[in-house]
Amino acid sequence: MQALGQHLAARRLVPPLVGLVGDLALDQQLRELPALRFALERHTPRPCNPVARTRIASGAVQRQAEVYARGVAGTKPLIPTDPRRLEDAARARLTPEAYAYVAGGAGSETTIDANRAAFERQRIVPRVLRDVSARTTSVELFGRMLPAPILMAPVGVLELAHRDADLAVARATAALGVPMIFSNQASVPMETCAAAMGSSPRWFQLYWSKNNDLVASFVRRAEACGCDAIVVTLDTTMLGWRTRDLDLAYLPFLRGKGIAQYTSDPVFRAMLAGEPPAPAATVKRRVTLHSLSALLQMTRAYPGGFVANLRSKAPLGAVQHFVGTYSRTNLTWEDLRFLRERTKLKILLKGILHPDDARRAVDHGMDGVIVSNHGGRQIDGEIASLDALPAIVAEVQGRIPVLLDGGVRGGADVFKAVALGAHAVLVGRPYVYALALAGEDGIRELLRNFIAEFDLTLGLAGLRDPREITTEALAAARS
Ligand SMILES: Cc1cc2nc3c(=O)[nH]c(=O)nc-3n(C[C@H](O)[C@H](O)[C@H](O)COP(=O)(O)O)c2cc1C
Repeated sequence: MQALGQHLAARRLVPPLVGLVGDLALDQQLRELPALRFALERHTPRPCNPVARTRIASGAVQRQAEVYARGVAGTKPLIPTDPRRLEDAARARLTPEAYAYVAGGAGSETTIDANRAAFERQRIVPRVLRDVSARTTSVELFGRMLPAPILMAPVGVLELAHRDADLAVARATAALGVPMIFSNQASVPMETCAAAMGSSPRWFQLYWSKNNDLVASFVRRAEACGCDAIVVTLDTTMLGWRTRDLDLAYLPFLRGKGIAQYTSDPVFRAMLAGEPPAPAATVKRRVTLHSLSALLQMTRAYPGGFVANLRSKAPLGAVQHFVGTYSRTNLTWEDLRFLRERTKLKILLKGILHPDDARRAVDHGMDGVIVSNHGGRQIDGEIASLDALPAIVAEVQGRIPVLLDGGVRGGADVFKAVALGAHAVLVGRPYVYALALAGEDGIRELLRNFIAEFDLTLGLAGLRDPREITTEALAAARS
Protein backbone atom coordinates (compact mmCIF):
# COMPACT_ATOMS: atom_id res chain seq x y z
CA MET A 1 0.00 0.00 0.00
CA GLN A 2 2.81 2.32 0.98
CA ALA A 3 4.67 1.41 -2.20
CA LEU A 4 1.56 2.17 -4.24
CA GLY A 5 1.21 5.57 -2.55
CA GLN A 6 4.83 6.36 -3.29
CA HIS A 7 4.36 5.24 -6.86
CA LEU A 8 1.35 7.48 -7.39
CA ALA A 9 3.04 10.43 -5.77
CA ALA A 10 6.06 9.94 -7.99
CA ARG A 11 3.82 9.63 -11.07
CA ARG A 12 2.27 13.03 -10.34
CA LEU A 13 5.63 14.65 -9.75
CA VAL A 14 7.40 13.07 -12.65
CA PRO A 15 6.29 15.34 -15.50
CA PRO A 16 7.58 18.57 -13.93
CA LEU A 17 10.69 16.88 -12.58
CA VAL A 18 11.76 14.79 -15.48
CA GLY A 19 13.31 17.57 -17.50
CA LEU A 20 15.43 18.34 -14.48
CA VAL A 21 16.41 14.87 -13.39
CA GLY A 22 18.67 13.95 -16.33
CA ASP A 23 20.92 10.91 -16.43
CA LEU A 24 21.56 10.56 -12.75
CA ALA A 25 22.58 7.64 -10.65
CA LEU A 26 19.07 7.21 -9.29
CA ASP A 27 18.83 4.26 -7.01
CA GLN A 28 17.37 1.10 -8.41
CA GLN A 29 14.18 1.32 -6.35
CA LEU A 30 13.31 4.69 -7.82
CA ARG A 31 14.29 3.72 -11.36
CA GLU A 32 11.93 0.79 -11.11
CA LEU A 33 8.88 2.94 -10.50
CA PRO A 34 7.20 2.49 -13.90
CA ALA A 35 6.26 6.13 -14.29
CA LEU A 36 9.76 7.35 -13.66
CA ARG A 37 11.39 4.56 -15.66
CA PHE A 38 9.29 5.43 -18.67
CA ALA A 39 10.02 9.12 -18.37
CA LEU A 40 13.74 8.59 -17.85
CA GLU A 41 14.02 6.27 -20.83
CA ARG A 42 12.43 8.87 -23.06
CA HIS A 43 14.17 11.94 -21.79
CA THR A 44 17.59 10.88 -20.59
CA PRO A 45 20.45 12.45 -22.55
CA ARG A 46 23.30 10.06 -23.35
CA PRO A 47 26.60 11.52 -22.20
CA CYS A 48 29.70 10.43 -24.10
CA ASN A 49 32.60 11.36 -21.83
CA PRO A 50 33.16 11.86 -18.09
CA VAL A 51 33.31 15.64 -18.23
CA ALA A 52 30.16 15.90 -20.30
CA ARG A 53 28.45 13.45 -17.99
CA THR A 54 29.52 15.49 -15.01
CA ARG A 55 28.18 18.66 -16.55
CA ILE A 56 24.81 17.03 -16.96
CA ALA A 57 24.84 15.26 -13.62
CA SER A 58 26.25 18.01 -11.48
CA GLY A 59 23.94 20.88 -12.32
CA ALA A 60 22.50 22.24 -9.12
CA VAL A 61 18.93 22.04 -10.33
CA GLN A 62 19.29 18.41 -11.39
CA ARG A 63 20.90 17.46 -8.11
CA GLN A 64 18.13 19.10 -6.11
CA ALA A 65 15.45 17.53 -8.29
CA GLU A 66 17.00 14.13 -7.79
CA VAL A 67 17.10 14.50 -4.00
CA TYR A 68 13.51 15.69 -3.80
CA ALA A 69 12.24 13.11 -6.30
CA ARG A 70 13.86 10.35 -4.27
CA GLY A 71 12.26 11.80 -1.18
CA VAL A 72 8.87 11.23 -2.77
CA ALA A 73 9.75 7.56 -2.95
CA GLY A 74 10.81 7.64 0.70
CA THR A 75 14.57 7.67 0.15
CA LYS A 76 16.75 10.10 2.05
CA PRO A 77 20.24 11.18 0.87
CA LEU A 78 23.02 8.75 1.82
CA ILE A 79 24.96 11.41 3.66
CA PRO A 80 23.90 14.65 5.38
CA THR A 81 24.39 17.69 3.13
CA ASP A 82 25.24 19.97 6.07
CA PRO A 83 28.97 19.65 6.85
CA ARG A 84 28.52 19.68 10.64
CA ARG A 85 25.86 17.01 10.52
CA LEU A 86 28.08 15.04 8.15
CA GLU A 87 30.91 15.08 10.69
CA ASP A 88 28.57 14.21 13.58
CA ALA A 89 27.12 11.26 11.67
CA ALA A 90 30.61 9.98 10.78
CA ARG A 91 31.78 10.38 14.35
CA ALA A 92 29.04 8.01 15.48
CA ARG A 93 30.22 5.46 12.90
CA LEU A 94 34.00 5.64 13.48
CA THR A 95 35.99 4.19 16.35
CA PRO A 96 37.18 6.86 18.84
CA GLU A 97 40.75 6.39 17.57
CA ALA A 98 39.77 6.73 13.92
CA TYR A 99 37.64 9.81 14.55
CA ALA A 100 40.42 11.43 16.60
CA TYR A 101 42.97 10.76 13.85
CA VAL A 102 40.77 12.27 11.14
CA ALA A 103 39.20 15.20 12.98
CA GLY A 104 42.13 16.16 15.16
CA GLY A 105 44.62 18.97 14.79
CA ALA A 106 47.72 20.34 16.46
CA GLY A 107 47.65 21.58 20.06
CA SER A 108 44.41 23.25 21.02
CA GLU A 109 43.32 23.11 17.37
CA THR A 110 43.08 26.86 16.85
CA THR A 111 44.39 26.46 13.29
CA ILE A 112 41.40 24.31 12.39
CA ASP A 113 39.13 27.03 13.77
CA ALA A 114 41.09 29.74 11.95
CA ASN A 115 40.64 27.96 8.63
CA ARG A 116 36.88 28.04 9.07
CA ALA A 117 36.80 31.58 10.50
CA ALA A 118 38.68 32.87 7.43
CA PHE A 119 35.98 31.46 5.15
CA GLU A 120 33.24 32.86 7.37
CA ARG A 121 34.73 36.37 7.27
CA GLN A 122 34.38 36.47 3.50
CA ARG A 123 30.82 37.29 2.45
CA ILE A 124 29.45 36.90 -1.05
CA VAL A 125 27.75 39.92 -2.65
CA PRO A 126 25.40 38.72 -5.40
CA ARG A 127 24.50 40.71 -8.52
CA VAL A 128 20.98 40.41 -9.91
CA LEU A 129 19.12 40.63 -13.23
CA ARG A 130 21.87 38.97 -15.20
CA ASP A 131 21.03 36.06 -17.45
CA VAL A 132 22.54 33.05 -15.67
CA SER A 133 20.49 30.39 -17.43
CA ALA A 134 23.54 28.85 -19.13
CA ARG A 135 26.40 28.11 -16.74
CA THR A 136 29.47 25.96 -16.51
CA THR A 137 31.45 24.90 -13.46
CA SER A 138 34.33 23.51 -15.54
CA VAL A 139 37.88 24.79 -15.28
CA GLU A 140 41.10 23.99 -17.08
CA LEU A 141 44.11 22.83 -15.07
CA PHE A 142 47.39 21.65 -16.60
CA GLY A 143 45.67 21.10 -19.95
CA ARG A 144 42.78 19.05 -18.56
CA MET A 145 39.17 20.13 -18.30
CA LEU A 146 37.89 19.42 -14.79
CA PRO A 147 34.18 19.33 -13.94
CA ALA A 148 34.77 21.96 -11.25
CA PRO A 149 37.74 23.62 -9.51
CA ILE A 150 37.83 20.71 -7.04
CA LEU A 151 40.35 17.93 -6.35
CA MET A 152 40.47 15.29 -3.64
CA ALA A 153 43.19 16.12 -1.09
CA PRO A 154 45.70 13.39 -0.34
CA VAL A 155 44.49 11.74 2.86
CA GLY A 156 46.36 8.88 4.47
CA VAL A 157 45.13 5.79 6.30
CA LEU A 158 41.66 5.77 4.75
CA GLU A 159 41.21 2.19 5.98
CA LEU A 160 40.32 3.82 9.30
CA ALA A 161 37.14 5.08 7.64
CA HIS A 162 36.14 2.22 5.36
CA ARG A 163 37.38 -1.17 4.26
CA ASP A 164 37.54 -0.08 0.58
CA ALA A 165 39.60 2.96 1.58
CA ASP A 166 41.44 4.59 -1.37
CA LEU A 167 39.82 2.26 -3.87
CA ALA A 168 36.40 3.71 -3.05
CA VAL A 169 37.79 7.20 -3.62
CA ALA A 170 39.35 6.12 -6.92
CA ARG A 171 36.07 4.69 -8.21
CA ALA A 172 33.95 7.62 -7.05
CA THR A 173 36.24 10.30 -8.45
CA ALA A 174 36.65 8.46 -11.75
CA ALA A 175 32.85 8.35 -12.14
CA LEU A 176 32.84 12.16 -12.09
CA GLY A 177 36.23 13.02 -13.60
CA VAL A 178 37.37 14.77 -10.41
CA PRO A 179 41.15 14.39 -9.85
CA MET A 180 42.27 12.18 -6.98
CA ILE A 181 45.62 12.75 -5.27
CA PHE A 182 47.04 9.43 -4.09
CA SER A 183 48.46 9.81 -0.60
CA ASN A 184 51.98 8.69 0.21
CA GLN A 185 50.35 7.16 3.31
CA ALA A 186 47.58 5.37 1.42
CA SER A 187 45.97 2.14 2.53
CA VAL A 188 45.82 0.81 -1.04
CA PRO A 189 48.77 0.81 -3.48
CA MET A 190 48.55 3.46 -6.19
CA GLU A 191 48.58 0.78 -8.94
CA THR A 192 45.35 -0.75 -7.61
CA CYS A 193 43.62 2.63 -7.56
CA ALA A 194 44.91 3.66 -10.98
CA ALA A 195 43.63 0.41 -12.48
CA ALA A 196 40.11 1.33 -11.34
CA MET A 197 40.20 4.85 -12.77
CA GLY A 198 40.34 4.54 -16.55
CA SER A 199 41.65 7.83 -17.93
CA SER A 200 40.35 9.93 -15.04
CA PRO A 201 42.97 12.33 -13.67
CA ARG A 202 45.15 11.32 -10.73
CA TRP A 203 48.20 12.83 -9.01
CA PHE A 204 50.64 11.39 -6.47
CA GLN A 205 51.56 13.06 -3.18
CA LEU A 206 55.08 12.48 -1.93
CA TYR A 207 56.59 12.62 1.53
CA TRP A 208 60.31 12.93 0.91
CA SER A 209 61.83 9.86 2.50
CA LYS A 210 65.34 9.65 3.97
CA ASN A 211 66.13 7.24 1.14
CA ASN A 212 66.33 8.95 -2.28
CA ASP A 213 66.12 5.59 -4.07
CA LEU A 214 62.71 5.15 -2.48
CA VAL A 215 61.70 8.67 -3.56
CA ALA A 216 62.77 7.89 -7.13
CA SER A 217 60.88 4.59 -7.03
CA PHE A 218 57.65 6.28 -5.87
CA VAL A 219 58.00 8.82 -8.69
CA ARG A 220 58.61 6.10 -11.30
CA ARG A 221 55.53 4.24 -10.09
CA ALA A 222 53.44 7.42 -10.22
CA GLU A 223 54.52 7.94 -13.83
CA ALA A 224 53.64 4.34 -14.70
CA CYS A 225 50.24 4.83 -13.04
CA GLY A 226 49.38 7.70 -15.38
CA CYS A 227 49.65 10.46 -12.77
CA ASP A 228 49.72 14.00 -14.14
CA ALA A 229 51.58 15.53 -11.21
CA ILE A 230 53.65 14.98 -8.08
CA VAL A 231 52.59 16.93 -5.00
CA VAL A 232 55.49 17.32 -2.56
CA THR A 233 54.13 17.88 0.93
CA LEU A 234 56.59 20.05 2.83
CA ASP A 235 54.78 20.78 6.09
CA THR A 236 54.99 17.32 7.64
CA THR A 237 58.70 16.56 7.90
CA MET A 238 57.74 15.78 11.50
CA LEU A 239 54.33 14.84 12.84
CA GLY A 240 52.53 17.78 14.50
CA TRP A 241 51.67 17.80 18.21
CA ARG A 242 48.32 16.09 17.75
CA THR A 243 46.69 16.16 21.12
CA ARG A 244 43.77 13.82 20.43
CA ASP A 245 46.10 11.11 19.12
CA LEU A 246 48.55 11.66 21.96
CA ASP A 247 45.83 11.32 24.58
CA LEU A 248 44.69 8.05 23.03
CA ALA A 249 48.35 7.03 22.49
CA TYR A 250 47.31 5.98 19.00
CA LEU A 251 49.27 6.25 15.76
CA PRO A 252 47.89 4.06 12.94
CA PHE A 253 51.25 3.56 11.21
CA LEU A 254 52.56 1.63 14.21
CA ARG A 255 49.85 -0.94 13.49
CA GLY A 256 50.88 -1.31 9.88
CA LYS A 257 48.07 0.93 8.62
CA GLY A 258 48.68 3.58 5.95
CA ILE A 259 51.94 2.13 4.63
CA ALA A 260 50.67 0.33 1.52
CA GLN A 261 52.74 2.49 -0.87
CA TYR A 262 55.81 1.23 0.99
CA THR A 263 54.98 -2.43 1.35
CA SER A 264 54.16 -2.57 -2.38
CA ASP A 265 57.42 -0.90 -3.38
CA PRO A 266 60.38 -2.92 -4.70
CA VAL A 267 63.00 -0.58 -3.18
CA PHE A 268 61.28 -0.65 0.21
CA ARG A 269 60.85 -4.44 0.09
CA ALA A 270 64.58 -4.79 -0.59
CA MET A 271 65.29 -2.60 2.44
CA LEU A 272 63.47 -5.12 4.65
CA ALA A 273 66.37 -7.54 4.25
CA GLY A 274 68.58 -5.14 6.23
CA GLU A 275 68.48 -4.07 9.87
CA PRO A 276 65.83 -1.43 10.61
CA PRO A 277 67.16 1.98 11.70
CA ALA A 278 67.36 2.52 15.47
CA PRO A 279 64.01 3.79 16.85
CA ALA A 280 63.75 7.37 18.17
CA ALA A 281 62.64 6.10 21.58
CA THR A 282 63.14 2.74 23.24
CA VAL A 283 60.55 1.52 25.65
CA LYS A 284 60.83 -1.62 27.68
CA ARG A 285 58.94 -4.24 25.69
CA ARG A 286 56.17 -6.06 27.48
CA VAL A 287 53.91 -8.58 25.88
CA THR A 288 50.38 -7.46 26.61
CA LEU A 289 47.03 -8.08 24.98
CA HIS A 290 47.38 -4.68 23.34
CA SER A 291 50.80 -5.38 21.88
CA LEU A 292 49.62 -8.75 20.59
CA SER A 293 46.61 -7.10 18.97
CA ALA A 294 48.89 -4.48 17.35
CA LEU A 295 51.08 -7.28 15.99
CA LEU A 296 48.04 -9.03 14.54
CA GLN A 297 46.95 -5.79 12.89
CA MET A 298 50.39 -5.41 11.29
CA THR A 299 50.23 -9.01 10.09
CA ARG A 300 46.82 -8.48 8.57
CA ALA A 301 47.83 -5.21 6.89
CA TYR A 302 50.93 -6.68 5.26
CA PRO A 303 50.47 -7.97 1.68
CA GLY A 304 50.24 -11.75 1.25
CA GLY A 305 48.63 -14.51 3.22
CA PHE A 306 47.88 -14.03 6.92
CA VAL A 307 49.34 -17.39 7.99
CA ALA A 308 52.56 -16.88 6.04
CA ASN A 309 52.83 -13.35 7.45
CA LEU A 310 52.41 -14.71 10.99
CA ARG A 311 55.63 -16.69 10.52
CA SER A 312 57.44 -13.82 8.85
CA LYS A 313 59.31 -10.89 10.38
CA ALA A 314 58.32 -8.70 7.43
CA PRO A 315 55.14 -7.09 8.90
CA LEU A 316 56.95 -5.81 12.00
CA GLY A 317 60.07 -5.02 9.95
CA ALA A 318 58.00 -2.95 7.52
CA VAL A 319 56.66 -0.79 10.34
CA GLN A 320 60.14 -0.36 11.81
CA HIS A 321 61.67 0.54 8.45
CA PHE A 322 58.83 2.92 7.69
CA VAL A 323 59.31 4.74 11.00
CA GLY A 324 63.05 4.92 10.38
CA THR A 325 62.89 6.30 6.85
CA TYR A 326 59.57 8.21 6.72
CA SER A 327 60.76 11.77 6.27
CA ARG A 328 63.72 14.12 6.07
CA THR A 329 63.96 17.16 8.31
CA ASN A 330 67.07 18.42 6.47
CA LEU A 331 65.33 18.91 3.12
CA THR A 332 66.17 22.22 1.37
CA TRP A 333 65.28 24.04 -1.85
CA GLU A 334 68.33 22.50 -3.51
CA ASP A 335 66.86 19.01 -3.14
CA LEU A 336 64.03 19.89 -5.51
CA ARG A 337 66.51 19.57 -8.40
CA PHE A 338 66.66 15.82 -7.71
CA LEU A 339 62.95 15.59 -8.50
CA ARG A 340 62.96 18.07 -11.38
CA GLU A 341 65.70 16.07 -13.12
CA ARG A 342 63.88 12.79 -12.64
CA THR A 343 60.42 13.50 -13.95
CA LYS A 344 58.56 15.41 -16.60
CA LEU A 345 55.39 15.31 -14.49
CA LYS A 346 54.14 18.57 -13.06
CA ILE A 347 55.51 19.23 -9.58
CA LEU A 348 53.50 21.16 -6.99
CA LEU A 349 54.64 22.15 -3.51
CA LYS A 350 52.04 21.63 -0.79
CA GLY A 351 52.22 23.54 2.48
CA ILE A 352 53.19 26.96 1.11
CA LEU A 353 51.97 29.84 3.31
CA HIS A 354 54.52 32.62 2.74
CA PRO A 355 54.69 34.67 -0.49
CA ASP A 356 58.51 34.43 -0.53
CA ASP A 357 58.28 30.63 -0.54
CA ALA A 358 55.76 30.81 -3.39
CA ARG A 359 58.22 32.99 -5.37
CA ARG A 360 61.04 30.54 -4.68
CA ALA A 361 58.82 27.72 -5.92
CA VAL A 362 58.46 29.57 -9.24
CA ASP A 363 62.22 30.27 -9.32
CA HIS A 364 62.95 26.57 -8.77
CA GLY A 365 60.87 25.53 -11.76
CA MET A 366 57.89 24.21 -9.81
CA ASP A 367 54.60 23.98 -11.70
CA GLY A 368 52.20 24.92 -8.91
CA VAL A 369 51.80 25.59 -5.20
CA ILE A 370 49.16 24.43 -2.76
CA VAL A 371 48.44 26.93 -0.02
CA SER A 372 47.83 24.66 2.95
CA ASN A 373 48.39 24.25 6.67
CA HIS A 374 47.60 20.54 6.46
CA GLY A 375 44.09 21.07 7.77
CA GLY A 376 45.45 22.54 11.02
CA ARG A 377 47.20 19.30 11.90
CA GLN A 378 50.76 20.59 12.12
CA ILE A 379 51.15 23.90 14.03
CA ASP A 380 48.71 25.33 16.54
CA GLY A 381 48.14 29.06 15.96
CA GLU A 382 49.15 28.88 12.29
CA ILE A 383 47.87 31.32 9.66
CA ALA A 384 44.62 30.21 8.03
CA SER A 385 45.25 29.05 4.49
CA LEU A 386 42.56 31.34 3.06
CA ASP A 387 44.18 34.31 4.84
CA ALA A 388 47.53 33.40 3.30
CA LEU A 389 46.10 33.07 -0.21
CA PRO A 390 45.80 36.68 -1.50
CA ALA A 391 49.45 37.63 -0.87
CA ILE A 392 50.63 34.42 -2.52
CA VAL A 393 48.40 34.97 -5.54
CA ALA A 394 49.76 38.52 -5.82
CA GLU A 395 53.36 37.27 -5.62
CA VAL A 396 52.92 34.48 -8.17
CA GLN A 397 51.14 36.78 -10.67
CA GLY A 398 49.58 33.95 -12.62
CA ARG A 399 52.92 32.32 -13.54
CA ILE A 400 51.84 28.99 -12.01
CA PRO A 401 48.50 27.77 -10.63
CA VAL A 402 47.83 28.40 -6.94
CA LEU A 403 45.63 25.82 -5.23
CA LEU A 404 44.28 25.91 -1.68
CA ASP A 405 43.01 23.58 1.01
CA GLY A 406 41.95 23.75 4.65
CA GLY A 407 38.40 24.27 5.85
CA VAL A 408 36.68 23.89 2.47
CA ARG A 409 33.26 22.53 3.47
CA GLY A 410 30.94 23.28 0.56
CA GLY A 411 30.42 24.87 -2.82
CA ALA A 412 30.20 28.40 -1.41
CA ASP A 413 33.70 27.93 0.07
CA VAL A 414 34.97 26.85 -3.34
CA PHE A 415 33.50 30.07 -4.74
CA LYS A 416 35.23 32.21 -2.07
CA ALA A 417 38.63 30.57 -2.60
CA VAL A 418 38.35 31.03 -6.37
CA ALA A 419 37.33 34.67 -5.81
CA LEU A 420 40.54 35.19 -3.85
CA GLY A 421 42.62 33.78 -6.68
CA ALA A 422 42.76 30.00 -6.16
CA HIS A 423 42.71 28.02 -9.41
CA ALA A 424 41.15 25.12 -7.55
CA VAL A 425 40.66 23.74 -4.05
CA LEU A 426 41.35 20.41 -2.40
CA VAL A 427 38.61 18.81 -0.32
CA GLY A 428 39.90 16.99 2.77
CA ARG A 429 38.01 15.73 5.83
CA PRO A 430 34.47 15.92 4.36
CA TYR A 431 35.20 13.09 1.96
CA VAL A 432 36.63 10.94 4.72
CA TYR A 433 33.35 11.35 6.60
CA ALA A 434 31.34 10.53 3.46
CA LEU A 435 33.52 7.45 2.97
CA ALA A 436 32.92 6.35 6.55
CA LEU A 437 29.16 6.66 6.13
CA ALA A 438 28.53 5.24 2.69
CA GLY A 439 31.77 4.16 1.00
CA GLU A 440 32.16 4.87 -2.70
CA ASP A 441 28.54 6.00 -3.07
CA GLY A 442 28.96 8.44 -0.19
CA ILE A 443 31.96 10.09 -1.84
CA ARG A 444 30.17 10.33 -5.17
CA GLU A 445 27.23 11.96 -3.44
CA LEU A 446 29.47 14.37 -1.55
CA LEU A 447 31.22 15.47 -4.72
CA ARG A 448 27.98 15.95 -6.58
CA ASN A 449 26.69 18.04 -3.68
CA PHE A 450 29.86 20.16 -3.70
CA ILE A 451 29.61 20.76 -7.43
CA ALA A 452 25.86 21.45 -7.25
CA GLU A 453 26.29 24.00 -4.46
CA PHE A 454 29.16 25.64 -6.35
CA ASP A 455 27.01 25.86 -9.48
CA LEU A 456 24.12 27.32 -7.50
CA THR A 457 26.33 29.85 -5.72
CA LEU A 458 27.82 30.90 -9.05
CA GLY A 459 24.41 31.45 -10.64
CA LEU A 460 22.81 33.11 -7.63
CA ALA A 461 25.79 35.47 -7.42
CA GLY A 462 25.01 36.52 -10.99
CA LEU A 463 27.89 34.70 -12.70
CA ARG A 464 28.08 31.94 -15.31
CA ASP A 465 31.62 30.67 -15.32
CA PRO A 466 34.33 30.20 -12.65
CA ARG A 467 36.50 32.53 -14.73
CA GLU A 468 34.09 35.38 -13.94
CA ILE A 469 34.58 35.01 -10.17
CA THR A 470 36.76 37.81 -8.80
CA THR A 471 37.21 39.64 -5.50
CA GLU A 472 34.39 41.92 -6.74
CA ALA A 473 32.02 39.17 -5.59
CA LEU A 474 33.26 39.35 -1.98
CA ALA A 475 32.44 41.96 0.65
CA ALA A 476 35.30 41.52 3.11
CA ALA A 477 37.88 41.53 0.33
CA ARG A 478 36.74 44.96 -0.86
CA SER A 479 36.60 46.70 2.53
C1 LIG B 1 43.15 12.11 8.25
C2 LIG B 1 44.00 13.00 7.40
C3 LIG B 1 45.09 12.45 6.76
C4 LIG B 1 45.88 13.25 5.92
N1 LIG B 1 46.91 12.68 5.23
C5 LIG B 1 47.65 13.43 4.39
C6 LIG B 1 48.67 12.84 3.61
O1 LIG B 1 48.90 11.64 3.64
N2 LIG B 1 49.39 13.66 2.80
C7 LIG B 1 49.16 15.02 2.71
O2 LIG B 1 49.84 15.72 1.98
N3 LIG B 1 48.17 15.58 3.43
C8 LIG B 1 47.41 14.83 4.24
N4 LIG B 1 46.39 15.41 4.94
C9 LIG B 1 46.08 16.83 4.73
C10 LIG B 1 45.11 17.02 3.57
O3 LIG B 1 45.73 16.75 2.34
C11 LIG B 1 44.59 18.46 3.50
O4 LIG B 1 45.68 19.34 3.48
C12 LIG B 1 43.66 18.81 4.66
O5 LIG B 1 42.85 17.72 4.99
C13 LIG B 1 42.79 20.00 4.30
O6 LIG B 1 42.06 20.43 5.40
P1 LIG B 1 40.51 20.03 5.66
O7 LIG B 1 40.51 18.58 6.03
O8 LIG B 1 40.14 20.91 6.78
O9 LIG B 1 39.76 20.29 4.41
C14 LIG B 1 45.58 14.63 5.77
C15 LIG B 1 44.47 15.15 6.42
C16 LIG B 1 43.67 14.35 7.20
C17 LIG B 1 42.46 14.96 7.85
